[in-house]
Amino acid sequence: MHSPALRVDHLCKNYSLSGWRNRKKVIAAIDDISFQLFPGQTLSVVGESGSGKSSLARQLVGIEQPTSGKIFINEKNLSEESKKEQAILFRQIRMVFQNPFSSLNPHSRIGRTLEEPLKINTSLSSKERKDIVNQTLQQVGLRPEHTNRFPHMFSGGQQQRIAIARALILEPKVIVADEPLSALDVSVQAQILNLLMALQENLGVSYVFISHDLGVVEHISDQVLVMYRGQVMEYGDIEQIFDAPKHPYTRKLLSSTPTYRHTVKVSKVTPSAEFKQRAKSANGCVFASRCPYAQQKCLDEQPEQHNFDGQKVKCHWPLIE
Ligand SMILES: Nc1ncnc2c1ncn2[C@@H]1O[C@H](COP(=O)(O)OP(=O)(O)OP(=O)(O)O)[C@@H](O)[C@H]1O
Ligand code: SF4
Ligand SMILES: [Mg+2]
Repeated sequence: MHSPALRVDHLCKNYSLSGWRNRKKVIAAIDDISFQLFPGQTLSVVGESGSGKSSLARQLVGIEQPTSGKIFINEKNLSEESKKEQAILFRQIRMVFQNPFSSLNPHSRIGRTLEEPLKINTSLSSKERKDIVNQTLQQVGLRPEHTNRFPHMFSGGQQQRIAIARALILEPKVIVADEPLSALDVSVQAQILNLLMALQENLGVSYVFISHDLGVVEHISDQVLVMYRGQVMEYGDIEQIFDAPKHPYTRKLLSSTPTYRHTVKVSKVTPSAEFKQRAKSANGCVFASRCPYAQQKCLDEQPEQHNFDGQKVKCHWPLIE
Protein backbone atom coordinates (compact mmCIF):
# COMPACT_ATOMS: atom_id res chain seq x y z
CA MET A 1 0.00 0.00 0.00
CA HIS A 2 1.16 3.55 -0.76
CA SER A 3 1.83 5.92 2.11
CA PRO A 4 -0.90 8.52 2.67
CA ALA A 5 -0.87 11.66 0.51
CA LEU A 6 -2.25 13.51 3.54
CA ARG A 7 -2.26 12.56 7.21
CA VAL A 8 -3.72 14.59 10.02
CA ASP A 9 -3.00 13.83 13.69
CA HIS A 10 -5.00 15.33 16.57
CA LEU A 11 -5.57 18.62 14.76
CA CYS A 12 -7.13 21.46 16.79
CA LYS A 13 -8.08 25.03 15.92
CA ASN A 14 -9.41 27.49 18.48
CA TYR A 15 -10.80 30.91 17.65
CA SER A 16 -10.87 33.62 20.30
CA LEU A 17 -13.84 35.93 20.38
CA SER A 18 -14.12 39.07 22.48
CA GLY A 19 -17.21 38.54 24.55
CA TRP A 20 -19.31 40.51 26.96
CA ARG A 21 -17.26 42.97 29.08
CA ASN A 22 -14.18 41.95 27.09
CA ARG A 23 -14.27 38.45 28.49
CA LYS A 24 -12.52 36.23 25.99
CA LYS A 25 -14.52 33.30 24.65
CA VAL A 26 -12.73 30.47 22.91
CA ILE A 27 -14.42 28.38 20.22
CA ALA A 28 -12.91 24.98 19.50
CA ALA A 29 -13.82 24.94 15.80
CA ILE A 30 -11.62 21.88 15.22
CA ASP A 31 -11.18 19.55 18.16
CA ASP A 32 -8.80 16.58 17.91
CA ILE A 33 -9.27 15.51 14.29
CA SER A 34 -7.25 12.64 12.84
CA PHE A 35 -7.49 10.91 9.46
CA GLN A 36 -5.42 9.72 6.55
CA LEU A 37 -6.05 10.02 2.84
CA PHE A 38 -4.39 7.75 0.27
CA PRO A 39 -3.42 8.65 -3.31
CA GLY A 40 -6.32 8.69 -5.75
CA GLN A 41 -8.93 8.44 -2.99
CA THR A 42 -11.70 10.72 -1.77
CA LEU A 43 -12.44 11.53 1.85
CA SER A 44 -15.72 13.38 2.31
CA VAL A 45 -16.32 15.60 5.31
CA VAL A 46 -19.96 15.96 6.37
CA GLY A 47 -21.81 17.56 9.25
CA GLU A 48 -24.33 20.31 9.76
CA SER A 49 -23.59 24.01 9.45
CA GLY A 50 -21.01 25.23 11.97
CA SER A 51 -19.51 21.78 12.59
CA GLY A 52 -16.05 22.98 11.51
CA LYS A 53 -15.71 21.67 7.96
CA SER A 54 -14.41 24.91 6.41
CA SER A 55 -12.19 25.56 9.43
CA LEU A 56 -10.60 22.16 8.82
CA ALA A 57 -10.14 22.99 5.12
CA ARG A 58 -8.37 26.25 5.96
CA GLN A 59 -5.86 24.49 8.22
CA LEU A 60 -5.16 21.81 5.59
CA VAL A 61 -4.21 24.25 2.84
CA GLY A 62 -2.28 26.63 5.08
CA ILE A 63 -4.69 29.59 4.98
CA GLU A 64 -4.64 29.41 8.79
CA GLN A 65 -2.23 28.00 11.36
CA PRO A 66 -3.63 25.17 13.54
CA THR A 67 -3.61 25.66 17.32
CA SER A 68 -2.12 22.20 17.80
CA GLY A 69 -1.76 18.85 16.07
CA LYS A 70 0.15 17.73 13.01
CA ILE A 71 -0.40 17.75 9.27
CA PHE A 72 1.74 15.41 7.16
CA ILE A 73 1.93 15.91 3.41
CA ASN A 74 3.63 12.93 1.74
CA GLU A 75 4.59 11.87 5.27
CA LYS A 76 6.46 15.13 5.92
CA ASN A 77 5.39 16.87 9.11
CA LEU A 78 4.64 20.45 8.08
CA SER A 79 5.35 21.92 11.50
CA GLU A 80 8.89 20.51 11.48
CA GLU A 81 9.79 21.93 8.07
CA SER A 82 11.38 25.28 7.28
CA LYS A 83 9.14 28.03 5.84
CA LYS A 84 10.69 27.40 2.43
CA GLU A 85 10.00 23.65 2.58
CA GLN A 86 6.45 24.32 3.87
CA ALA A 87 5.78 26.49 0.82
CA ILE A 88 6.96 23.65 -1.40
CA LEU A 89 4.76 21.14 0.44
CA PHE A 90 1.70 23.41 0.20
CA ARG A 91 1.99 23.19 -3.59
CA GLN A 92 0.87 19.60 -3.11
CA ILE A 93 -2.45 20.57 -1.51
CA ARG A 94 -4.68 23.16 -3.16
CA MET A 95 -8.19 24.41 -2.54
CA VAL A 96 -11.37 24.85 -4.58
CA PHE A 97 -13.91 27.16 -2.94
CA GLN A 98 -17.69 27.14 -2.86
CA ASN A 99 -18.20 30.33 -4.82
CA PRO A 100 -16.06 30.34 -7.97
CA PHE A 101 -16.66 33.98 -8.90
CA SER A 102 -15.53 35.41 -5.58
CA SER A 103 -12.54 33.05 -5.56
CA LEU A 104 -11.23 34.48 -8.87
CA ASN A 105 -9.68 37.93 -9.31
CA PRO A 106 -12.30 39.85 -11.36
CA HIS A 107 -9.67 42.22 -12.81
CA SER A 108 -7.30 39.54 -14.03
CA ARG A 109 -7.64 37.70 -17.36
CA ILE A 110 -7.85 34.01 -16.64
CA GLY A 111 -4.62 33.25 -18.51
CA ARG A 112 -2.83 35.49 -16.04
CA THR A 113 -4.67 34.03 -13.05
CA LEU A 114 -3.63 30.54 -14.07
CA GLU A 115 -0.05 31.51 -14.89
CA GLU A 116 0.56 33.28 -11.61
CA PRO A 117 1.18 30.18 -9.40
CA LEU A 118 3.67 28.92 -11.99
CA LYS A 119 5.45 32.28 -12.00
CA ILE A 120 5.72 32.33 -8.23
CA ASN A 121 6.61 28.69 -7.65
CA THR A 122 8.64 27.56 -10.67
CA SER A 123 11.46 28.78 -12.89
CA LEU A 124 9.67 27.82 -16.11
CA SER A 125 9.96 30.09 -19.14
CA SER A 126 7.01 32.17 -20.31
CA LYS A 127 6.40 29.77 -23.22
CA GLU A 128 6.49 26.72 -20.91
CA ARG A 129 4.05 28.39 -18.50
CA LYS A 130 1.64 29.25 -21.31
CA ASP A 131 1.77 25.68 -22.60
CA ILE A 132 0.88 24.34 -19.14
CA VAL A 133 -1.98 26.86 -18.83
CA ASN A 134 -3.37 25.75 -22.20
CA GLN A 135 -3.08 22.04 -21.34
CA THR A 136 -4.75 22.56 -17.98
CA LEU A 137 -7.61 24.54 -19.55
CA GLN A 138 -8.18 21.63 -21.92
CA GLN A 139 -8.13 19.17 -19.00
CA VAL A 140 -11.04 21.04 -17.41
CA GLY A 141 -13.00 21.31 -20.66
CA LEU A 142 -12.11 24.90 -21.65
CA ARG A 143 -10.22 26.19 -24.68
CA PRO A 144 -6.84 28.00 -24.93
CA GLU A 145 -8.52 31.07 -26.48
CA HIS A 146 -10.38 31.54 -23.18
CA THR A 147 -7.17 32.85 -21.58
CA ASN A 148 -7.91 36.41 -22.73
CA ARG A 149 -11.28 36.64 -21.03
CA PHE A 150 -12.18 37.96 -17.59
CA PRO A 151 -14.08 35.79 -15.02
CA HIS A 152 -17.41 37.63 -15.49
CA MET A 153 -17.45 36.53 -19.13
CA PHE A 154 -17.98 32.91 -18.07
CA SER A 155 -20.96 31.00 -16.69
CA GLY A 156 -20.87 29.75 -13.06
CA GLY A 157 -19.95 26.24 -14.20
CA GLN A 158 -17.13 27.57 -16.38
CA GLN A 159 -15.87 29.73 -13.51
CA GLN A 160 -15.70 26.63 -11.32
CA ARG A 161 -13.78 24.86 -14.11
CA ILE A 162 -11.29 27.77 -14.07
CA ALA A 163 -10.99 27.53 -10.27
CA ILE A 164 -10.32 23.78 -10.62
CA ALA A 165 -7.71 24.52 -13.30
CA ARG A 166 -6.01 26.98 -10.94
CA ALA A 167 -5.97 24.34 -8.20
CA LEU A 168 -4.47 21.80 -10.63
CA ILE A 169 -1.85 23.99 -12.24
CA LEU A 170 0.98 23.00 -9.85
CA GLU A 171 0.07 19.29 -10.15
CA PRO A 172 -0.98 18.84 -6.51
CA LYS A 173 -1.46 15.46 -4.85
CA VAL A 174 -4.54 16.61 -2.91
CA ILE A 175 -7.38 19.02 -3.65
CA VAL A 176 -9.55 20.27 -0.81
CA ALA A 177 -12.94 21.15 -2.28
CA ASP A 178 -15.23 23.07 0.10
CA GLU A 179 -18.80 22.59 -1.17
CA PRO A 180 -17.64 23.02 -4.79
CA LEU A 181 -21.09 22.32 -6.26
CA SER A 182 -23.50 24.11 -3.94
CA ALA A 183 -23.27 27.57 -5.58
CA LEU A 184 -23.92 26.12 -9.04
CA ASP A 185 -27.17 25.50 -10.94
CA VAL A 186 -28.42 21.97 -10.39
CA SER A 187 -28.03 21.24 -14.11
CA VAL A 188 -24.32 22.13 -13.94
CA GLN A 189 -23.53 20.31 -10.68
CA ALA A 190 -23.39 16.86 -12.32
CA GLN A 191 -21.03 18.15 -15.02
CA ILE A 192 -18.57 19.53 -12.47
CA LEU A 193 -18.83 16.37 -10.38
CA ASN A 194 -18.08 14.26 -13.47
CA LEU A 195 -15.13 16.50 -14.25
CA LEU A 196 -13.73 16.03 -10.73
CA MET A 197 -14.12 12.26 -11.02
CA ALA A 198 -12.48 12.16 -14.48
CA LEU A 199 -9.54 14.24 -13.22
CA GLN A 200 -9.09 11.84 -10.31
CA GLU A 201 -9.13 8.87 -12.68
CA ASN A 202 -6.60 10.48 -15.05
CA LEU A 203 -4.28 12.25 -12.62
CA GLY A 204 -4.59 10.14 -9.45
CA VAL A 205 -5.32 13.24 -7.36
CA SER A 206 -6.93 12.75 -3.90
CA TYR A 207 -9.85 14.83 -2.70
CA VAL A 208 -10.99 16.13 0.65
CA PHE A 209 -14.57 16.78 -0.40
CA ILE A 210 -16.80 18.88 1.85
CA SER A 211 -20.50 18.56 1.17
CA HIS A 212 -24.01 18.61 2.58
CA ASP A 213 -25.24 16.34 -0.21
CA LEU A 214 -25.06 12.84 1.24
CA GLY A 215 -26.16 11.23 -2.04
CA VAL A 216 -23.15 12.73 -3.84
CA VAL A 217 -20.92 11.83 -0.90
CA GLU A 218 -21.95 8.17 -1.06
CA HIS A 219 -21.44 8.15 -4.83
CA ILE A 220 -17.90 9.53 -4.93
CA SER A 221 -16.19 8.73 -1.61
CA ASP A 222 -13.87 6.06 -0.31
CA GLN A 223 -14.06 7.34 3.26
CA VAL A 224 -16.26 9.71 5.23
CA LEU A 225 -15.60 11.86 8.29
CA VAL A 226 -18.73 12.88 10.20
CA MET A 227 -18.23 16.05 12.23
CA TYR A 228 -20.25 17.63 15.00
CA ARG A 229 -19.15 20.76 16.89
CA GLY A 230 -15.57 20.40 15.74
CA GLN A 231 -15.20 16.74 16.70
CA VAL A 232 -15.18 13.54 14.67
CA MET A 233 -18.27 11.54 15.57
CA GLU A 234 -17.65 8.73 13.10
CA TYR A 235 -14.93 8.04 10.54
CA GLY A 236 -14.16 5.21 8.17
CA ASP A 237 -15.02 3.43 4.99
CA ILE A 238 -18.02 4.96 3.20
CA GLU A 239 -19.79 1.63 2.64
CA GLN A 240 -19.37 0.55 6.26
CA ILE A 241 -20.73 3.83 7.59
CA PHE A 242 -23.60 4.35 5.14
CA ASP A 243 -24.64 0.68 5.41
CA ALA A 244 -24.43 0.53 9.20
CA PRO A 245 -23.95 3.91 10.89
CA LYS A 246 -23.03 3.34 14.51
CA HIS A 247 -23.03 6.87 15.91
CA PRO A 248 -26.38 8.40 16.91
CA TYR A 249 -25.44 11.65 15.13
CA THR A 250 -24.59 9.88 11.86
CA ARG A 251 -27.98 8.17 12.02
CA LYS A 252 -29.71 11.48 12.64
CA LEU A 253 -27.88 13.09 9.71
CA LEU A 254 -28.72 10.24 7.33
CA SER A 255 -32.32 10.01 8.47
CA SER A 256 -32.83 13.71 7.68
CA THR A 257 -32.08 12.97 4.00
CA PRO A 258 -35.05 11.52 2.05
CA THR A 259 -32.89 8.86 0.30
CA TYR A 260 -31.84 7.29 3.59
CA ARG A 261 -34.85 8.10 5.79
CA HIS A 262 -36.39 4.66 5.42
CA THR A 263 -33.21 2.62 5.70
CA VAL A 264 -31.72 4.11 8.86
CA LYS A 265 -33.11 3.13 12.24
CA VAL A 266 -33.19 6.12 14.57
CA SER A 267 -34.90 6.65 17.89
CA LYS A 268 -37.41 9.51 17.98
CA VAL A 269 -36.86 10.13 21.71
CA THR A 270 -35.57 13.62 22.57
CA PRO A 271 -33.80 14.49 25.81
CA SER A 272 -35.90 16.35 28.39
CA ALA A 273 -35.57 20.13 28.75
CA GLU A 274 -33.93 19.62 32.13
CA PHE A 275 -31.36 17.18 30.66
CA LYS A 276 -30.65 19.57 27.77
CA GLN A 277 -30.04 22.36 30.25
CA ARG A 278 -27.56 20.23 32.21
CA ALA A 279 -25.86 19.14 28.97
CA LYS A 280 -25.12 22.80 28.12
CA SER A 281 -22.74 23.21 31.02
CA ALA A 282 -21.41 19.62 31.08
CA ASN A 283 -18.03 18.55 29.71
CA GLY A 284 -19.01 15.16 28.35
CA CYS A 285 -20.22 14.22 24.87
CA VAL A 286 -20.82 17.26 22.63
CA PHE A 287 -23.92 15.61 21.15
CA ALA A 288 -25.58 14.85 24.51
CA SER A 289 -28.18 17.64 24.37
CA ARG A 290 -29.63 16.19 21.17
CA CYS A 291 -28.93 12.50 21.51
CA PRO A 292 -31.88 10.11 21.95
CA TYR A 293 -29.62 7.64 23.76
CA ALA A 294 -27.90 10.06 26.16
CA GLN A 295 -27.48 9.06 29.80
CA GLN A 296 -25.81 10.62 32.82
CA LYS A 297 -22.41 9.18 31.84
CA CYS A 298 -22.63 11.17 28.57
CA LEU A 299 -22.67 14.41 30.60
CA ASP A 300 -19.88 13.33 32.93
CA GLU A 301 -17.35 11.74 30.57
CA GLN A 302 -16.05 12.40 27.08
CA PRO A 303 -16.60 9.21 25.08
CA GLU A 304 -13.63 7.20 23.83
CA GLN A 305 -13.34 6.34 20.16
CA HIS A 306 -14.37 2.71 19.52
CA ASN A 307 -12.95 0.89 16.51
CA PHE A 308 -15.06 -1.62 14.55
CA ASP A 309 -12.82 -2.95 11.75
CA GLY A 310 -11.62 0.57 10.98
CA GLN A 311 -15.02 2.22 11.53
CA LYS A 312 -14.27 4.67 14.34
CA VAL A 313 -17.15 5.77 16.54
CA LYS A 314 -16.93 8.34 19.33
CA CYS A 315 -19.75 7.26 21.61
CA HIS A 316 -20.10 5.49 24.97
CA TRP A 317 -22.61 3.09 23.44
CA PRO A 318 -22.17 2.68 19.67
CA LEU A 319 -25.31 1.39 17.94
CA ILE A 320 -24.37 -2.06 16.78
CA GLU A 321 -27.76 -3.65 16.11
N1 LIG B 1 -12.49 33.16 11.85
C1 LIG B 1 -13.32 32.75 12.80
N2 LIG B 1 -13.40 33.40 13.96
C2 LIG B 1 -14.24 32.97 14.95
N3 LIG B 1 -15.03 31.88 14.84
C3 LIG B 1 -14.99 31.19 13.69
C4 LIG B 1 -14.14 31.58 12.60
N4 LIG B 1 -14.31 30.69 11.59
C5 LIG B 1 -15.22 29.80 12.03
N5 LIG B 1 -15.63 30.10 13.27
C6 LIG B 1 -16.58 29.33 14.08
O1 LIG B 1 -16.15 27.99 14.05
C7 LIG B 1 -17.25 27.10 13.95
C8 LIG B 1 -17.11 26.25 12.70
O2 LIG B 1 -17.33 27.06 11.54
P1 LIG B 1 -17.11 26.52 10.06
O3 LIG B 1 -17.32 27.66 9.14
O4 LIG B 1 -15.81 25.81 9.98
O5 LIG B 1 -18.31 25.46 9.91
P2 LIG B 1 -18.82 24.69 8.60
O6 LIG B 1 -18.96 23.26 9.02
O7 LIG B 1 -17.92 24.96 7.45
O8 LIG B 1 -20.26 25.30 8.36
P3 LIG B 1 -21.07 25.48 6.97
O9 LIG B 1 -21.65 24.12 6.64
O10 LIG B 1 -22.14 26.47 7.32
O11 LIG B 1 -20.13 25.98 5.93
C9 LIG B 1 -18.49 27.97 13.96
O12 LIG B 1 -18.96 28.05 15.28
C10 LIG B 1 -17.99 29.31 13.49
O13 LIG B 1 -18.78 30.35 13.99
S1 SF4 C 1 -21.86 9.32 24.12
FE1 SF4 C 1 -23.94 9.40 24.85
S2 SF4 C 1 -24.72 11.39 24.16
FE2 SF4 C 1 -22.87 10.97 23.02
S3 SF4 C 1 -23.60 10.04 21.16
FE3 SF4 C 1 -23.13 8.37 22.55
S4 SF4 C 1 -25.04 7.90 23.61
FE4 SF4 C 1 -25.26 9.91 22.60
MG1 LIG D 1 -18.26 25.81 5.57
